Amino acid sequence: MRQTADIEKIVIAGAGIMGASMAQIFARWGYSVDLYDIAPESIDRGRDLIAVNQRALIDQGGVSGELSREILSRIACTTKMDAFEGADFVIEAIVENMGVKLDFWKEASRLAPDDAVLTTNTSGLSITEMSAAVRLPERFCGMHWVNPPHIVPLVEVIQGKSTAEETVETVREVALSVHKHPVVVRGDPRGFLLNRLQYAVLREALHIVENGYASAKDVDDVMKYGLGMRYSCIGPFETVDLGGLDTFFLVGSYLFAELSNAQSVPEPLAALYREGAFGTKSGRGFYDYGNGGAERAIEKRDRDFLKVSKCLFEDV
Ligand SMILES: NC(=O)c1ccc[n+]([C@@H]2O[C@H](COP(=O)([O-])OP(=O)(O)OC[C@H]3O[C@@H](n4cnc5c(N)ncnc54)[C@H](O)[C@@H]3O)[C@@H](O)[C@H]2O)c1
Repeated sequence: MRQTADIEKIVIAGAGIMGASMAQIFARWGYSVDLYDIAPESIDRGRDLIAVNQRALIDQGGVSGELSREILSRIACTTKMDAFEGADFVIEAIVENMGVKLDFWKEASRLAPDDAVLTTNTSGLSITEMSAAVRLPERFCGMHWVNPPHIVPLVEVIQGKSTAEETVETVREVALSVHKHPVVVRGDPRGFLLNRLQYAVLREALHIVENGYASAKDVDDVMKYGLGMRYSCIGPFETVDLGGLDTFFLVGSYLFAELSNAQSVPEPLAALYREGAFGTKSGRGFYDYGNGGAERAIEKRDRDFLKVSKCLFEDV
């Protein structure tokens, strides 16, 4: 298996929101990156995304103009799969569809050198199931990044049934080498850690709105001005220790039974989905994004995330 120190060439599959952003991180920390996509128009979109991200980072003092030019010079874009023949480390960030990913991995793992490390950025599909298509699956594991990956530090490293311990360690070290914060996930649970926690919160948020206890904006305000601020500094277990375990036990003894345990997608989300209101990408979701609102929302998110990152984390 390729050792971390021998890894120079990163091949990223999928030049979308995640792939384009990850390419910049690896280039930022000195790796040479091939960004592969099946569709030439997606390559063009990926190049545009990279240009937008880099302009924003320069404007906000995240990188200098000179470093940004270096970053761009280390990224090559391609629609040819022979890029995988020269890969030391592969990250797959293509469409979230098991069938498409299985077809991709069958071919990519055949082309990649035997000792290359192979990873998928799936949001929560089974790593074990996907590894069935991978040649030499002991070198394959999950590497789940958080949007926008060029700003958010967390990377989940997910071990599938066939994943060798050595692979987990190498992927962890590679995440550290690009100044990310890796967390190893064992047992391949669907949704890994971040999405399990995120969806537990989302289920209760939707339950509150559905029951008319508060509006979507009120729920967002509770997170932004209360819980969210806390959680960017301390986690739920630290919160319990600092607040008093006895109090959390006593509140939990009447509150857990009150919380939603919905087993299907709750109606406030399902109804918008049926109407095609997909959020910023379609101009409407829980909020309206007409008249440039989508671009403003994305810019504000990235600006605010960068401010928080600069305050709390080094090397962003
Ligand atoms: N967007 C997020 O917030 C987020 C966060 C974490 C993980 N992910 C995961 O990352 C992956 C990519 O998500 P995204 O948001 O970047 O999607 P996206 O739609 O922006 O990009 C996907 C890209 O994959 C390309 N593609 C599709 N099939 C392909 C194939 N067979 N070979 C090569 N390229 C192919 C498409 O042309 C497109 O450019 C998914 O698995 C997703 O679940 C997304």
